[in-house]
Amino acid sequence: MPLGLSTRLLTAGADAVAAAGRCLREGGLVGFPTETVYGLGADAANPAAIARLYQAKGRPAFNPLIAHVGDLKAAEAIARFDSQARALAQAFWPGPLTLVLPKAQNCPVADLATAGLDTVAVRIPSHNVARALLQAFGGAVVAPSANRSGHVSPTTAAHVLADLDGRVDLILDGGPVEVGVESTIIGCFDEPMLLRAGGLPREAIERLLGRALLAPQELEDTDSPHPLAPGMLASHYAPRARVRLQATDVRPGEALLAFGPAALPGLDKAVAVMNLSESGDLTEAATRLFGYLRTLDTYGAAGIAVMPVPGHGLGEAINDRLRRAAA
Ligand code: TXA
Ligand code: MG
Repeated sequence: MPLGLSTRLLTAGADAVAAAGRCLREGGLVGFPTETVYGLGADAANPAAIARLYQAKGRPAFNPLIAHVGDLKAAEAIARFDSQARALAQAFWPGPLTLVLPKAQNCPVADLATAGLDTVAVRIPSHNVARALLQAFGGAVVAPSANRSGHVSPTTAAHVLADLDGRVDLILDGGPVEVGVESTIIGCFDEPMLLRAGGLPREAIERLLGRALLAPQELEDTDSPHPLAPGMLASHYAPRARVRLQATDVRPGEALLAFGPAALPGLDKAVAVMNLSESGDLTEAATRLFGYLRTLDTYGAAGIAVMPVPGHGLGEAINDRLRRAAA
């Protein structure tokens, strides 16, 4: 149901970015592109704006948000960096990496955005429009992915509009995103921990740290009072159709999400076929994943059969999102 706002959709030029910065200062909600997925931004220091953001997404307020900033100085006003965290920041920011760190003293991010935790998630995005918006606004912007809670993340402005028309003030259209899956989240505790596989492959992080990352916490329910990554519940990214993984055939009534050459039994009867990458390129597959899941879901197929995708590099994040879509 719309919340009665009239949502402005603007092509991301200088005037539009300035308008979006004003909108954030006035406590408004702005959809904007990052290199990973589109985010829904609010002033990180404005609890009323953040409350509206949770409402617009239909997101439970115990699920904390990522604070987006323009540079390391702004990040250090929010969170405490140890030597490992600083090494990660220097190597991979700006880019598709989020660090969960202890809050700094006088952390400007509102408690509502961190769900009362004593840690905070921070990232410096690399997308030009995101960076311009952060500069125009002049402070930290909390931004979850700009989808309704439970839907797959948006990789185009049209996806944002489809989910949030009438629920947000403004959407900046910066074209399709580059990466296509959300940022990799690392918990910088005594032992660095992979909280969410994402757009920065685990291998690159482990090479830099010279050690293996602890395994992601598989959280199947919300019973734990302080889940490490509260948003990583099993069914977070679900399309409407039933998703069947590791498919080696197409069954009656199913659409096919293919990867690589797709000569499967039953292919001729598939409701629809979309190929994440004919040549088996994981980077290309990541950029297409969420859009293809959205599109296949519109065919009204009983199910979506998904071919196996290798697990290395961006394949770890792709397989993680596919498992959630199937849960
Ligand atoms: O690529 C991305 O990360 C996108 C773009 C917009 O930046 N954002 C994004 O936000 O994916 P969201 O809210 O959809 O996912 C953020 C995840 C959630 O699973 C949340 O539980 C986790 O980060 N998170 C946030 N703060 C945390 C904290 N202090 N400790 C552990 N997990 C945290
Ligand atoms: Mg999300």
